[in-house]
Amino acid sequence: MPNYDLTPEQMLLKNTVRDFAEKEIKPVRLELDRKEEFSYELTGKMFDLGLFGVTCSPEYGGQGMDYLSYIIVVEELARIDGCQAATVAAGNSLGIGPLYYFGSKEQKEKYLPPLCSEKKLWGFGLTEPNAGSDAGNSKTNAILKDGQWIINGSKIFITNSANEMSAGVTVQAITDTKDNGKKEISCIIAEQSCKGLTAKAMKNKMTWRSSNTAELYFDDVTVPEGNLLGKRGDGFKQMLQTLDSGRLAIAAMGLGGAQGAFEEALKYSKERIAFGKPISSFQINAFKLVDCATEIEAARSLLYRACWLKDQGRAFSKEAAMSKVYCSEVFYRVANHCVQLHGGYGLMEEYPAAKYYRDQKLLDIGEGTSEIQRLVIARYLDCF
Ligand code: CAA
Repeated sequence: MPNYDLTPEQMLLKNTVRDFAEKEIKPVRLELDRKEEFSYELTGKMFDLGLFGVTCSPEYGGQGMDYLSYIIVVEELARIDGCQAATVAAGNSLGIGPLYYFGSKEQKEKYLPPLCSEKKLWGFGLTEPNAGSDAGNSKTNAILKDGQWIINGSKIFITNSANEMSAGVTVQAITDTKDNGKKEISCIIAEQSCKGLTAKAMKNKMTWRSSNTAELYFDDVTVPEGNLLGKRGDGFKQMLQTLDSGRLAIAAMGLGGAQGAFEEALKYSKERIAFGKPISSFQINAFKLVDCATEIEAARSLLYRACWLKDQGRAFSKEAAMSKVYCSEVFYRVANHCVQLHGGYGLMEEYPAAKYYRDQKLLDIGEGTSEIQRLVIARYLDCF
C-alpha cells in the first residue's frame, strides 16, 4: 500500500509554497482578477522559488523532484488563487512536459533551461476553434519543403502564449495523409519570434481572469526540419500522453481550490451570527461543512494515489481521468456551499467566494471536459 505521509522535503515544499501564496498572492489576487491582469511580478517570483521545471532534471535547470511534489505545489497555489496555479501548471505540464518527455537531447538543452529558470513560458498548441474535445480533428498543417516546415493554421485557448514571457509553442499539425487515409499528425516546435506567428491575448473571461490565454495564428511560419518533436506521426499520442499527466495538475487545482473555498466557508460560518448563534452551529450548515471536508479528504486520497502510481512508473491514465473529474466536481460542490454560506456577501466580488465559484468552472472544461474524462474511464471499464 502506498504511504501518503509527505516526506520532509515535500513538507518543506508545501509550507514554502503555502507561505508564499498567503503572503504574496492573497493580498493581490482579487485586484488582479478584477483588472484581468497577468502578473509578471508574481510569475517572476514563482520562477525564483523554483516552481517551474519541478519534475524536470537539474541537467536542464529543473528541480528533479517527484510528481507528487509538483502536485503539492499546484494544490497550494490553487488554495489561494487558481490563476497563479494555472500559470505554473501550464508551464510545467504543457510547456515543459512535451519538450522534456519527447525532445532530443539538443532540443532539451536549447529549450528547457529558459523555461525552468530563465523566466520564459511555452505554450501547448493543441486546441483549435473547431477541434476541442475532438482533438484529432485539428486542421493546422505543416508541409516539409527544402528542409523546413511551413506551418499554417490557428490555435485557441492556449495558456501562457500571449505575454512578454512567451518564448514559443509546441504545435500539433497535420504533416501528411497515411496510406490508410488517416491524418499523419506530428508535433513541431515554433519559437514565438517566428515570422508569421501572431499571438492575441483573449480577454473578457469569466474564469482564470489573471492567467494568460492566447489565440495563435500561423501564417507560413517556417521552422527548420529539426524542430520536429520526437518521431514524425507521433504527435497525437504525444499530446494525449502529455494530457494524462496534465490532468493530475488540473485535479490538484480542483483539490486546492476546494480546500481554499472550504477554509473561507468554515471561517465565515463561525464568525457570522444569526438568530444569536454562529451559523456553523446550525445543523444544516454544519452538515454542508462536514460533506465538504469529507469529499476533500477523498479527493486528496484519489489524486495522491494517482501520483504515486505515476511516480512508481505504473499506468495511471485511468486514475488521472478519475482524479480530474472527481476533484473538479468536489470543488464545484464546495465552492457552491461556500457562496451559499456567505449568503448575499457570497455574491459580492469583495469576498473570495465568488472567485472560487467562477474559477471552478474552468476545471470542468480545460484539459479535457468532464465528459471526455468519463469517456476515457468508460473505455478502461470496457463499457463500449
Ligand atoms: N496516451 C497515448 N496514446 C493514446 C492515449 C493516451 N492517453 N489515448 C489514446 N491513445 C492512442 C490510441 O491508442 C490510438 O492509437 P492508434 O492510432 O495507434 O490505434 C490513438 O491515440 C488515437 O486514439 P483514439 O482513437 O482513442 O482517439 P479519439 O480520436 O477517439 O480521441 C480522446 C480520444 C480521449 C477523445 C482525445 O481526443 C481527448 O483526450 N480529447 C480531449 C482533448 C483535450 O483534453 N483538450 C484540452 C487541451 S488543453 C489546451 O489546449 C489549452 C491549455 O493550454 C490549457
